[in-house]
Amino acid sequence: MKILIKNIKELVQVDDGTRIKVAGKDMAQLPTLKDAWLSVEDGKISDYGSMSDWNGVEDWTGLEVIDATDKLVLPSWCDSHTHLIFAGSREAEFVDRIKGLSYEEIAARGGGILNSAKKLQDTSEEELIEQTQVRLDEIASMGTGAVEIKSGYGLSTDAELKILRVAKKLKESSDLTIKSTFLGAHAIPAEYKDNRDGYLDLIVEEMLPIIKEEGLAEYIDVFCETNYFTVAEMERVMEAGTAHGLKPKVHVNQFTSIGGIEAAVRHKALSVDHLEIMEDKDIEAIVGSETMPTMLPSCSFFLSIPFGPARSLIERGLPVALATDYNPGSTPSGNIPFVLSLACIKMRMTPEEAINAVTLNSAYAMDLSETHGSIAKGKVANLFITKEVPSYAYIPYSFGSNLVDTVILKGEIKSTNGKV
Ligand code: NIG
Ligand code: FE
Repeated sequence: MKILIKNIKELVQVDDGTRIKVAGKDMAQLPTLKDAWLSVEDGKISDYGSMSDWNGVEDWTGLEVIDATDKLVLPSWCDSHTHLIFAGSREAEFVDRIKGLSYEEIAARGGGILNSAKKLQDTSEEELIEQTQVRLDEIASMGTGAVEIKSGYGLSTDAELKILRVAKKLKESSDLTIKSTFLGAHAIPAEYKDNRDGYLDLIVEEMLPIIKEEGLAEYIDVFCETNYFTVAEMERVMEAGTAHGLKPKVHVNQFTSIGGIEAAVRHKALSVDHLEIMEDKDIEAIVGSETMPTMLPSCSFFLSIPFGPARSLIERGLPVALATDYNPGSTPSGNIPFVLSLACIKMRMTPEEAINAVTLNSAYAMDLSETHGSIAKGKVANLFITKEVPSYAYIPYSFGSNLVDTVILKGEIKSTNGKV
């Protein structure tokens, strides 16, 4: 398919494709081109420029022309942290929390991750694909074009592999770009309650070799947290993951600061995610590293826990990525526009910083910034056209609205007027 989008009010996040992330003060810069055109061919962005320099079309054969007068064009959002493959939902726990129980108390009663694991173990691969496809269609309609998906609601060899095989099938069939992460160390299953090392042995000696053999994941994750996995346990799993070709990308500092960031950075983690509870030494541990700090404001919103201190990181010269954390327990939402609103309203990130955080920086957090996350010649044509809006700051400002009009994924028009 060949597409020409013309009369674009503002083409947002344009570059020459050489930037792989933006950090510190540079996060305040969001390069755009006003009154622009953009062309797509063979699944890639073939060119873009100003309408005033446009030379017209030589070959109209098979060309789809879209007029984007009064509309913006942005690169698709990159959601670098989700648990999109899960079975059913947990609204009963949501009600329990409203009535006063804490997330930790619910988990201690066998709810939480263990509740989702039980549901998933009883769900077939076909049913999981069906449920996940609905979620993928929904996030695509809100502008997401690349997504990382974790396992972690299996907690047995069979069930963890089932999730990762579903992810592999979806990678092959989906219009979205998908990366997958093995999160066997998400919680200790009930049957290993008194034998933590036994479960870690299972992850390291049984699950990881099969995952490597079948090419089921790119990353290794651990929920490093009080009452979940210790720093030493995380290090053991990261080391085994690395030995099996998986890069660390881990959950740290969601509820407590226990030294996970420093260890993850030492193990060259691609990203450290959550970061709601940050001490100065945690911030300092990231300085000078290649690790992308990633914050998940819709998780803070849903659990009523602190929002990550994005401003402190940016002021320290660090980059920040933002993602949804879409999962049934702490963030039953894959809505990146809402993440942008929360980042601006609750974390005092500017619209420029927030948009950088859900495009180029989140692409980096899944090794995709050479092909995704900005409008550049030769990058994958994953982008969207907004409805008529006054400016890009209107996107986080009008929280709760879906302003996506037309979605283009891998160079194909997927939806118009917000319908997939
Ligand atoms: O990223 N923090 C760990 N895991 C998920 C939530 C797990 C759940 O409650 O199901 C998260 O927030
Ligand atoms: Fe998570």
